[in-house]
Amino acid sequence: MSKKWKVILDCDVGHDDAIALMLGAAHLDIELVGIVAVAGNQVLEKTLKNTLHVVQHLGLDIPVYAGMSCPMVRDQTVAGEIHGESGLDGPVFDELKISAQEEHGVNYIIRTILESKEKITLVPVGPMTDIGMALRMRPEIRENIERIVLMGGAYGLGNYTPAAEFNFLADPEAAHIVFTSGVPVVMMGLDLTNQALADRSIIDRMEGIGNKAGKLFGDMMRFTLESQRLFGLEAGPVHDVTAMAYTVHPDLFEVKPAYVEICLDKGNCYGRSVVDFYGICGKEPNALVGTGLDKGAFWDFLEENLRMLP
Ligand code: BDR
Ligand code: CA
Repeated sequence: MSKKWKVILDCDVGHDDAIALMLGAAHLDIELVGIVAVAGNQVLEKTLKNTLHVVQHLGLDIPVYAGMSCPMVRDQTVAGEIHGESGLDGPVFDELKISAQEEHGVNYIIRTILESKEKITLVPVGPMTDIGMALRMRPEIRENIERIVLMGGAYGLGNYTPAAEFNFLADPEAAHIVFTSGVPVVMMGLDLTNQALADRSIIDRMEGIGNKAGKLFGDMMRFTLESQRLFGLEAGPVHDVTAMAYTVHPDLFEVKPAYVEICLDKGNCYGRSVVDFYGICGKEPNALVGTGLDKGAFWDFLEENLRMLP
């Protein structure tokens, strides 16, 4: 029998975040114990609302918590031009009837990790603020974290500045805490996630499933497709889905060990992930970094899992 992974998803829903959430909820070997919303693609009020909408829309029984509303050190930056004014423009949802748990998301992460008999896998796919806070508040949680499989960074070009990817740029200090924590880290950066491109044929295929999850995929990714056209692209990356997929199906990916350092100098390279595959810095690897994706198998895997949902 394959292992069941206990997972906490920390997200800033967000189109690709919502698909990562659907995959986590659907996969039989993932026990998605809780979801924490963090400020990122939009302000916390909006990312929390979007998370609750997706959970309610699919009738999922997973508790949702509100995490940090601002980064640790820097001023807040959001990604309205990619995800829209609401942070999840495109789909239309019913009026929200469910609400978030009272406990703060960071306290929830700490409590769950400390109380759990099995190790917890953390899947942060927004700015790393909640994870960084939890690691600073209670460093002993490191012992009971299986690994942190995150979406963020790049060893090539950035997408929000020439040097930095959005999630790391939005809270570089928190990303720094994650990479210096000693917890095993898997980094799905842009070099990998830009290989997971949903074009029109993928959208048709997921909508063709004929359930709510497939329709939601289509309603969201059609909006993403439009926003990507601004950059001359005919497909939208589902960045965050790769992190959730790796937790149960690492065979879909090629990863390489590397030493990763986050640039905290407040110049052009603020938030950049400096990725040393060749040991040039003389430091031991602190992460596995995604380099390759089996695209055909990835979309088959996602389709198979979306079919499991309402
Ligand atoms: C990351 O930024 C967000 O816009 C996406 O949800 C993803 O997590 C990509 O840079
Ligand atoms: Ca995200």
